[in-house]
Amino acid sequence: MSKILLITSSPRAEESLSNKFAGDLAAKIKEQSNGSITHLDLGQNPIPHLDQVTTSAIRKAPEQRDAQEAAAAEYSDKRVAELMEADTVIIGTGLINFAIYSGLKSWIDNVARAGMTFRYTESGPVGLATGKKVYIVLSSAGVYSEGPAAAMDHAVPYLKTVLGFLGLTDVEVIRIEGLAFGPEAAEKAIASATAKVEELAKAA
Ligand SMILES: Cc1cc2nc3c(=O)[nH]c(=O)nc-3n(C[C@H](O)[C@H](O)[C@H](O)COP(=O)(O)O)c2cc1C
Repeated sequence: MSKILLITSSPRAEESLSNKFAGDLAAKIKEQSNGSITHLDLGQNPIPHLDQVTTSAIRKAPEQRDAQEAAAAEYSDKRVAELMEADTVIIGTGLINFAIYSGLKSWIDNVARAGMTFRYTESGPVGLATGKKVYIVLSSAGVYSEGPAAAMDHAVPYLKTVLGFLGLTDVEVIRIEGLAFGPEAAEKAIASATAKVEELAKAA
């Protein structure tokens, strides 16, 4: 039984391709493993960006927090618990100005917590969110998997870096790319992503 954490970040609701393919993959893995899905829809329910209260709260011991800080820390703790409890994490995002939707960045800022999802040791930082399978579903107008624009994709390298820092190293990437290169290219991108979702779900 797979405990799936599905994180979608596009605000474009049903129009979003990353929402669609991330949701499709989650549904398929859920069905075949008789699992469950916790869905964080960051496009419709954005996670607040880090502010002074949260950054201060997460550095303090619980007994030192005031009421506002306690609420902020509790919110972040919940996001961490959702991540730590999952055995499958599916992250959907569009490529937005060569990076990720800002709501997804806020989720990362809430779950990257020293002592909870990583810790510092004498030999450097160690990720604590280990043993999970991760899928990144990325949609983009251009093509970044190969060719001249590959170096401009700061979404997948960034996500792999920060997820790896937290101990999430088993990562598969599904791209829906070239969507702006005409109707034929868009159709091809969708067909290719559909096949990849099918293939990865079967292998899950
Ligand atoms: C504000 C904005 C910035 C974008 N920046 C890029 C970009 O840098 N590169 C790219 O290929 N596509 C870019 N796009 C196109 C999106 O990646 C594409 O529409 C994608 O499907 C969005 O994901 P979604 O369908 O899940 O919302 C951008 C779209 C928006 C709205």
